[in-house]
Amino acid sequence: MKTYLVTGGAGFIGSNLVDELINQGHKVMIIDNLSTGKKENINPAAQFVNADIRNLEEIKPYFNGVDGVFHVAALPRVQLSIENPVESNDINVNGTINVLVAAKDAKVKRVVYSASSSAYGNSEILPLKEDMMPCAMSPYGLQKYIGEEYCRIFSLLYGIETVNLRYFNAYGPRMADTGAYLTVIKNFLMQKARGEAMTITGDGEQIRDFTHVRDIVRANIKAMESQKAGKGESINIGAGKNHSVNQIVAIIGGLSSHIPPRVEPKHAGRYIKSQRIAGLGAAGGFRGGD
Ligand SMILES: NC(=O)c1ccc[n+]([C@@H]2O[C@H](COP(=O)([O-])OP(=O)(O)OC[C@H]3O[C@@H](n4cnc5c(N)ncnc54)[C@H](O)[C@@H]3O)[C@@H](O)[C@H]2O)c1
Repeated sequence: MKTYLVTGGAGFIGSNLVDELINQGHKVMIIDNLSTGKKENINPAAQFVNADIRNLEEIKPYFNGVDGVFHVAALPRVQLSIENPVESNDINVNGTINVLVAAKDAKVKRVVYSASSSAYGNSEILPLKEDMMPCAMSPYGLQKYIGEEYCRIFSLLYGIETVNLRYFNAYGPRMADTGAYLTVIKNFLMQKARGEAMTITGDGEQIRDFTHVRDIVRANIKAMESQKAGKGESINIGAGKNHSVNQIVAIIGGLSSHIPPRVEPKHAGRYIKSQRIAGLGAAGGFRGGD
């Protein structure tokens, strides 16, 4: 039995990870400020600390005696990072340095960092591979990539083990059901449950690599345990297969209708709001997103 700390353990991915760690018999502590996370996601067998990763002194004591940290907490909102880059930088970059410093000072063996395929931006070259030069198209994408670089540098300078996992378009239990992070899959499921037609934006041939949260959880646990990693490597975590929106409609089954695509300014890259709501961000083999 190990003791793990999960930042962001009340969120979509973090809470699924906490549940699996507890299933496997580990002791788990959660640090989360419940900004986008929910109380009802928190596993009652975990120790919950309501704290903010932007406050190093507040979070520091909780890293003592911990075997490994899963750093999942972030403000994962592309549009919000465009509207308010300072706040999102504070959480996604400064919050990550705080977690790394607290882990290093407490002599935690390894930190597994939730990175993002958004680091690739709108690359036209597919599939997206780890040795490609990152080219983020939003403050959020850049911030998540800076976090990866901090992990690598902390391994280099201070010897703490780190692994960066670049997730591709997560879906599964507890995924967002409102707001700008409503995924196309959840949106279709909710429309179908209401007896409505599933609304396809444009021709529905936009493709993305959709990754089930259980695979992301498995990847986290393997990254924590693997003897082959720990020096700040960046690893893609995706299904490795793309699906179009039309294919998703066919898998779910039911009525559908088409709505016109909304063209929006180029400066926001392809992370444009209307497409994000449909969960379609950058269209295109191993396709990224958030
Ligand atoms: N969902 C995806 O498709 C996706 C894709 C790529 C990467 N990611 C990354 O995975 C991680 C989890 O994403 P998610 O989809 O589960 O998001 P989420 O919003 O459900 O979870 C984030 C959690 O972090 C917490 N948090 C936010 N700011 C905090 C702060 N200052 N201090 C403490 N806790 C704070 C929130 O309350 C929430 O519980 C993020 O790092 C995100 O960048 C997600």
